[in-house]
Amino acid sequence: MNKTIVLYGSHYGATRAYARHIAGQLGCAAAAAEQIKELDLSAYDTVIFGGGLYAGSVAGWNKAAKYCGQKEGQRWILFSCGLADPASAKTQNEVRTLFESRLPDELHGKLPVFCLRGGMDYAKLGLKHRTMMAALMLFLRRKKDKTEEDEQLLQTYGQKIDFFDESSVQPILDEARRQ
Ligand SMILES: Cc1cc2nc3c(=O)[nH]c(=O)nc-3n(C[C@H](O)[C@H](O)[C@H](O)COP(=O)(O)O)c2cc1C
Repeated sequence: MNKTIVLYGSHYGATRAYARHIAGQLGCAAAAAEQIKELDLSAYDTVIFGGGLYAGSVAGWNKAAKYCGQKEGQRWILFSCGLADPASAKTQNEVRTLFESRLPDELHGKLPVFCLRGGMDYAKLGLKHRTMMAALMLFLRRKKDKTEEDEQLLQTYGQKIDFFDESSVQPILDEARRQ
């Protein structure tokens, strides 16, 4: 039987919620990337990794990427969770580049990468992330030729944004079930 695990890197819970939903649908376990050392990843045929996007990094990926490609025949499926529009080619290219920046060249272009949309509650952000968002807002306010996404970020600054959509994991489930 195909043994699968879902790993996630999540600061505020959106990626964790997607990971748990995927695991529930596939009937497998979900675990935080911080637990990776306690897991025997070689016991799995398929590893699904999802991480929240944080200004040029993917939460948990630093830890998990080291194990990717280590076991012959093991399949990895990657997904990100961010605010950026998952349907845009720009988001998809950026996310793939972020994941691949931690992978050896021979794996570039080989792994399925999916983009999901999470959310953000400014009231719940820790100091570091609040400061980063404040700096981004300063930058965006001064930026000429703002994109639609820039305008949306500026308009929703300080509020609660929620794009969580359980049904958006379907392509990941289809990929995981593909033999
Ligand atoms: C400091 C900071 C930086 C972020 N950078 C990005 C980004 O570069 N791209 C993006 O799409 N979303 C970005 N986000 C939004 C998060 O990816 C989004 O809130 C996501 O749902 C977080 O997932 P988590 O709750 O699992 O940590 C950022 C959020 C914060 C607080």
